Amino acid sequence: MLDCLKTKGNEVGKSKCSILALLQLLATLSVPLAIGLYTIVHKTNESDLARQNRRKDLDIAGGNRAKDESIANEVRKENILVEYQNSLAKILLDHGMTLNGSVSARFVVRVKTLTAVKQLDTVRKAFLIQSLYEANLITTAVSTESIISLEGADLNKLHLGSTEDDTERPSHACLSLAGAILTNASFRLDNLNGANFTNPKLRFADFTDSRTDYGQYCYHQIDHLSVSFHSAILNEANFMTALYDNAIFTYANMFQANLQKFTCRYCNIVGANLSEADLTGVTFSGPANIGWAKFINSKLINASFTNGVNFQQSDFTRANANGISIRQCMFYSATFFNSTFNHATIINSDFKYARMDGIDISQGMITNSVFNNAHLVDVNFSHTTCRQCTFLNAILTGANLQGAIFNMCNFTGTQINDKQLEQASSLAGSTLPNGTLVPN
Ligand SMILES: *[C@@H]1O[C@H](CO)[C@@H](O)[C@H](O)[C@H]1NC(C)=O
Ligand SMILES: *[C@@H]1O[C@H](CO)[C@@H](O)[C@H](O)[C@H]1NC(C)=O
Ligand SMILES: *[C@@H]1O[C@H](CO)[C@@H](O)[C@H](O)[C@H]1NC(C)=O
Ligand SMILES: *[C@@H]1O[C@H](CO)[C@@H](O)[C@H](O)[C@H]1NC(C)=O
Ligand SMILES: *[C@@H]1O[C@H](CO)[C@@H](O)[C@H](O)[C@H]1NC(C)=O
Ligand SMILES: *[C@@H]1O[C@H](CO)[C@@H](O)[C@H](O)[C@H]1NC(C)=O
Ligand SMILES: *[C@@H]1O[C@H](CO)[C@@H](O)[C@H](O)[C@H]1NC(C)=O
Ligand SMILES: *[C@@H]1O[C@H](CO)[C@@H](O)[C@H](O)[C@H]1NC(C)=O
Ligand SMILES: *[C@@H]1O[C@H](CO)[C@@H](O)[C@H](O)[C@H]1NC(C)=O
Repeated sequence: MLDCLKTKGNEVGKSKCSILALLQLLATLSVPLAIGLYTIVHKTNESDLARQNRRKDLDIAGGNRAKDESIANEVRKENILVEYQNSLAKILLDHGMTLNGSVSARFVVRVKTLTAVKQLDTVRKAFLIQSLYEANLITTAVSTESIISLEGADLNKLHLGSTEDDTERPSHACLSLAGAILTNASFRLDNLNGANFTNPKLRFADFTDSRTDYGQYCYHQIDHLSVSFHSAILNEANFMTALYDNAIFTYANMFQANLQKFTCRYCNIVGANLSEADLTGVTFSGPANIGWAKFINSKLINASFTNGVNFQQSDFTRANANGISIRQCMFYSATFFNSTFNHATIINSDFKYARMDGIDISQGMITNSVFNNAHLVDVNFSHTTCRQCTFLNAILTGANLQGAIFNMCNFTGTQINDKQLEQASSLAGSTLPNGTLVPN
């Protein structure tokens, strides 16, 4: 167990020593000895740092006051961390690893934690959070609620994810950071199964290539939940190539977020704000609920919506969805004003009561879909092929059907004139607004 103490701990925050193992060891030893051990682990890192600083000082021959202040600052931060760790070790020894017998102990730890992280630099911050995580004090791995709440904690720039040149996947399954301030934090390549990011500030946060792998049980109230971002502030956050199952983004603000090639299966994204987000190549597959969401001015190029995603009442105004593929999805009463859906493939989908005025859905392929009562004023259907679609009572005033093919479609009660219908290159098998069936 102590082998780790001998390794060169040149990477704080990713020490080979499990903090939990260390704390368990400490429980069997006396407190002063425990503190001593802890200090050794830190000193290794600290002396590396000090050595580097000294070398730098020699280079600059003599150094200057700024340097002295910076060293003093380092020492001060190190003292804050060591003091914090010592008092945590003491509280854990006195009250047990879960602090469950003592509300006051939890409160004291929370206050001490918030105070410490506020004063620490990002590397020490990450080390501190990682140690709380490993001790299961901020997880739902052993209890239904996290033992210490980090609500309001200043965790800006917290880096728990993988570094740029590191392909190893860290794991923070069951992590609870509900309500924390995590602007510019990083969880790159991280396994976040069961993590709770309810209500935090995650502006610019980096979740590139993160995952929600199974195999980890957390004590959640919600069945099949993986990661929760309920009400999270995720403006300009990055979820490129991330892959989540059963994730929750309800009412999250993801304005201008980067979701290129993001895959979310069975996700609940109700009411989220994805306006101006880049969702190029995104995959949303169902059953899933993405109703009442905003995709205003968002990029949905080559996106894929499949297998029962419900987009009821969602807003795609001016979205760019060229090359999108939609299969078995529901857009009841959704809005698509002035959006572009060139080269779209749409199969078995429902657009009843959708408001699609000004949509450019030209050169697409639409099969077996329903547009009953939809508003399709000034729609561009040019060179689109529609098979087995119904437009009962839909409004197609001003729609452009140039070179389009409408086979076996039903226009009963549709508002469209003869001149428009004549533009189509085929209406074979379709029922015209006056009920006439065009022969095949
Ligand atoms: C604290 O938790 C442990 C293990 O979960 C349990 O055995 C013990 O009874 C709990 N103590 C209190 C006071 O709740
Ligand atoms: C976060 O990152 C952005 C863009 O890189 C930067 O403009 C901003 O100042 C950073 N904010 C914090 C709190 O680090
Ligand atoms: C996440 O944490 C918040 C605050 O502690 C809690 O209210 C919520 O129920 C948790 N969510 C899940 C899914 O456990
Ligand atoms: C989405 O979020 C942006 C930035 O916070 C805000 O300006 C915009 O009004 C929001 N959109 C909606 C529809 O709530
Ligand atoms: C979208 O897909 C088409 C066809 O596969 C491809 O030619 C195009 O480069 C893709 N566009 C983007 C932005 O990925
Ligand atoms: C759609 O475009 C038309 C013509 O450019 C414009 O008059 C109308 O206001 C636009 N509608 C929306 C909702 O942007
Ligand atoms: C309609 O779509 C066709 C084919 O994509 C395009 O050539 C034409 O310019 C579009 N018309 C309008 C008014 O946007
Ligand atoms: C078209 O719809 C009308 C109204 O629902 C229906 O009566 C008619 O049978 C349909 N035509 C075909 C060919 O299915
Ligand atoms: C129905 O409408 C088509 C074209 O819109 C027209 O050619 C046909 O004569 C009409 N049939 C009847 C019975 O009014």
